Amino acid sequence: MQLIDGKAIAAQIKLELAEEVTQIVENGGKIPHLAAILVGHDGGSETYVASKVRACEEIGFHSTLIRYDDNVTEKELLCKIIELNNNHDVDGFIVQLPLPKHISEQKVIETIDYRKDVDGFHPVNVGRMSIGLPCFVSATPAGIIELLKRYNIETSGKRCTVLGRSNIVGKPVATLLMQKSNPGNCTVTVCHSLTKNIEEYCRQADIIIAALGSPGFLRGNMVKEGAVVIDVGTSRILSDKTKSGYKLCGDVNFEEVAPKCSYITPVPGGVGPMTIVSLMKNNLLAGKKIIYQ
Ligand code: GUN
Repeated sequence: MQLIDGKAIAAQIKLELAEEVTQIVENGGKIPHLAAILVGHDGGSETYVASKVRACEEIGFHSTLIRYDDNVTEKELLCKIIELNNNHDVDGFIVQLPLPKHISEQKVIETIDYRKDVDGFHPVNVGRMSIGLPCFVSATPAGIIELLKRYNIETSGKRCTVLGRSNIVGKPVATLLMQKSNPGNCTVTVCHSLTKNIEEYCRQADIIIAALGSPGFLRGNMVKEGAVVIDVGTSRILSDKTKSGYKLCGDVNFEEVAPKCSYITPVPGGVGPMTIVSLMKNNLLAGKKIIYQ
């Protein structure tokens, strides 16, 4: 069994990105600028946005954090998005999800200019990804693909089972893995809460992507010998052993599953750090106007 060290790969990619920023500065170019909107005080969202801002500092990007209380109106938020769309200094921006119930996430996503949508959530980017055109690919699926690439894991012709059908992870990662590309060329099955015999689909899989948000869901008896297991779960569980009072828990029962795997990602230190650097990569592309003019 080989552990897929997302933390180490992400650190390597951050160095590569920092080097690119140095080059841009040396050539008199504009330093990429990422803005993030955070609504409310959800613990998970606070942590993720803080990590994104820290990554910008490490790489040498400019960053702006815009905060609102839970009671911000949808109109106020949409006005800020339009302002960022028109702000020539901001190359890309994100609105951290989830949002309070009184705000339509879909309206928010569709108001973002797709050319600045470094999260890759806008229907233009999702649509372009699904037919293999250049676009901003959402960060978690892009991070998973990058891990498979950097570990030289064969995907062509493999059976892949994706657990979860979210717009952010399940659907896009399934789309990318079935794409005519490398990594890609998988035969993909997407399972969800209403799938019958989910264990059977897991046992048939050469590659399992677990993105259900159900702590410890994937057990040892659901995995075939030699499988590749990618754990996208990030449930925050109360813990008296950590400073924050929480620990991150993946969708995979690591103790049972790891001994059967050829490769497996840990939680934390697997997919999570890759999500952040994939967002940074997208923002660099946005700054360089590589995908859209
Ligand atoms: N919430 C959970 N993951 C993400 C993400 O990748 N981007 C944004 N904006 N919100 C999220």
